[in-house]
Parts: sequence; structure tokens; C-alpha cells
Amino acid sequence: MSNDSYRVLDRDSLPGYLAEIPEVTAVLGDCTDLEILEIGDGNLNFVYRVNNATDSTKSVIVKQAVPYLRMVGEEWPLSRDRMTYEIRALSLYNEVVPDLVPTIYHADEEMSTLVMQCLSDHIILRIGMIEGITYPDVAEHIGLFMAETLFTTSAWSMGSLERRELMDRFTMNAELCKLTEEFIFTFPYMDHESNYSNPATDAWAKENVHTDIDYKRDVLHFKDLFVSKTDALLHADLHSGSLMVNQQESYVIDMEFAYFGPFGFDVGKVISNFLLCCTSHYHRSGGAEYREWLLEQIPVIWNTFEARFLELWEAAGESAMMTNGFFSDTELADMRSAFMVNLLQESAGFAACSMARRTLGIAGVADIRDIEDLEIRSTLEIANLKLSKRLMAERNTLSTIDDMLALIRDYYSSPIL
Ligand SMILES: Nc1ncnc2c1ncn2[C@@H]1O[C@H](COP(=O)(O)OP(=O)(O)O)[C@@H](O)[C@H]1O
Ligand SMILES: [Mg+2]
Repeated sequence: MSNDSYRVLDRDSLPGYLAEIPEVTAVLGDCTDLEILEIGDGNLNFVYRVNNATDSTKSVIVKQAVPYLRMVGEEWPLSRDRMTYEIRALSLYNEVVPDLVPTIYHADEEMSTLVMQCLSDHIILRIGMIEGITYPDVAEHIGLFMAETLFTTSAWSMGSLERRELMDRFTMNAELCKLTEEFIFTFPYMDHESNYSNPATDAWAKENVHTDIDYKRDVLHFKDLFVSKTDALLHADLHSGSLMVNQQESYVIDMEFAYFGPFGFDVGKVISNFLLCCTSHYHRSGGAEYREWLLEQIPVIWNTFEARFLELWEAAGESAMMTNGFFSDTELADMRSAFMVNLLQESAGFAACSMARRTLGIAGVADIRDIEDLEIRSTLEIANLKLSKRLMAERNTLSTIDDMLALIRDYYSSPIL
């Protein structure tokens, strides 16, 4: 994918680059007087907000991948091909869920650059949740996003050949898959130089994570699912930092990790972020009332997801998986029920992995890591690890989302801080 026309854009070269693209000048107007602000808070890429200096409502976002990890620098090379996968996934999402993702104005695989709708009235969900803000529809939007994107790219929806062609456009997102394999499913559970460190948490993990063979075997089982199972095109980094929201709308961003993987990975990861935030509000200002709101979002996410997923499934014709006459209606309905139970259990396992990696691994969540008092932070970290272990150990006892919520509520009923 690499070719010679690639160059890293900066404040000086951006206006010239944008002025050549009619779809962008249609939004920005005159490109001779632009305000350019680097807003990237992410680890990997450069993100700029560009607006017309005389009318700041005329704005776009420019996101460019560079051939290294932005947060570390050129000494950590990382192929910029990741932007190719983000472009491909966002293009597909614009067809499947246009109201839940930014509009693309220009996508340039050679330049590893995406110019898209600027969400200027929205903030990152994680930031809102840290502040204790409630969003009436966000859980429903998350559930719908997952149902639509996961079902339509699954073998229950697509034909075999067209699906393999689509898979072929994502299989080589290899470096980012490897990052997930190592940083979510391996390093956090052992002594590793990349891990985060906080003395009391480290000591607890040594005793209760590194030496817990059953837990580590379960983690490896989920790594196996991540590596081998190709249920659907995943966002694969669907956490509260990949959602931009306001009181009415929610948008999913940052799909550079997109690849074909297990359904439960997106579902579990997003649920785990509500749990991590819930734990943080034992210390943060949201208190019991906000913690309750966070927990209540989990069944809304799941129930919306499940209802829409099943609705799409019932409406689907023949597919790679299903041929008319194979099952009677009752057999099909029974199979679907068992399928959803399994998906719920897999989501619980992936949520468990996500909680542990966000606690012990290099990439934490601000909900917890921004707490300055190391002892309080450690108490909350250990609480998250204990919940991870419980979800993992008891996942196969869960048949409904209410079972999962009951487990979580039972867990939080013991003192946390
Ligand atoms: N379409 C957008 N509109 C407004 N802000 C955006 C948009 N896309 C990204 N951002 C901002 O830029 C930040 C980094 O973008 P992100 O896609 O997460 O980059 P990275 O992949 O480097 O983590 C986001 O957290 C958000 O604040
Ligand atoms: Mg990213």
C-alpha cells in the first residue's frame, strides 16, 4: 500500500492539500484563511480541526496516520496502513449506520489521510462520564451500532463469496491485531516491561493474577477467539473514548483496529468501560446515583443490541450460514436463543479481559489513572481486577443480561473503598 506520494501533513502544508479537494472546499469555503488546531489526544495519529477563520462553523477534521506511534515517536515504527482500514471501515459504516458515524468528505489511502465531519457540538463520552453527565440515548445508540454493523457483516447476513471478498479487505490489519493480542491478552497477566505500575496493585496482581492458572487459561481462550473467530467486521476499539456524544446524538469514531473477529469483543469492551467508570465514581463526584445510571446502561446496551440483531436475523434471507429448508422455524428460533446466550457469555469474558488490561497494561483509562492519590487509585484498580476475575470465572452461569447485572450488583454490594 505504501507509495511515493505520501508525505506527512502539517500546519503549513494542510491548506494547500485541502484546497485541491472540491468536497472539502465545499464545506470550508475559501481555503486561503484557515485556522488549524492539532486536537489529537490519541496515541497513534495526528488529528487536526480545520476551520474557516471568518466562519468557524465551516470546519472539518483531518486525521493522518504517520509511520510510527505518535505517543512514542519515530523509534516505535508502526505501519501507516492502519488508516487504510479505518477508511474502509468508516466507508462501510457510512452505508450501514450513516447517522452514527462522521460523514467522510475525502479519503486518501495513499496519504493515509481522512477528512471528515467535525463533531463540534459533541464531546468524548469518557470525558462526559468522568464528569458524571448522563446521556439519555447513548446506550441505545451503542446497541444499535453494534447490531447493525456486526449482523450485516456476519455470515448470517452475507453470502459466502461476497463476505470473503470483504474479509480480504481487512485481513492484513496485522500490526494492530498484534497490538491487541499482546496488550489485551498477554502482557497484563505476567511480568512485562510494558506494564503500568502502582506498588499495591502490582503486589496484588503478582499474588492473584500472575499465578491464577485458571484465569490465565481463560484469558488465553479469549485470545484464541480473538485470533481465530471471524464472526463479523469489528470496530475492535469500541470504548468510551471512541464515542463522541451530546444529549441527542452519538457518533462512533476511530475504527483503525477494524478486522473480522468475534462478536463479543466489541460488546464486551464497551460494557467494560461502563464498569471501569462505575468503579471510579466510588471516588469521583458522581456518587451512588451516577454509578446506578452507569449500571443501568448495560442492560439497555445489550437489550437494544439483541433485539435489533434478532430483528435483522429474522428478516435476513439465505446467507453463507443458512439455506432455506435446513431448519424448521422452531429449530431456528431455538438455535438463535442458544446463540445469544453464548454471545452474552463471550461478551462477559471479553469484558473481563478488557478490565484487566485497562488496569494492568500500558493503556489505562483516564477514569482511574487520572486519580492522583495512588492508594485510592490502587484500591479501585484492585476492585476492577476482582470484578474481572469474577466475570471471567462465572461467565458460563449467565443466561441473560439480568444475570450479568445481578452478578455485577452483587459484586458492588461489598464495600469498594
Ligand atoms: N470527527 C471528529 N470530530 C471532532 N473531533 C474528533 C473527530 N475525530 C476525532 N476527534 C478528536 O480527536 C481525538 C483523537 O481522535 P482518534 O480518532 O481517537 O485518534 P487516535 O486514533 O490517534 O486515537 C478524539 O479523541 C477526539 O477528541
Ligand atoms: Mg485510534
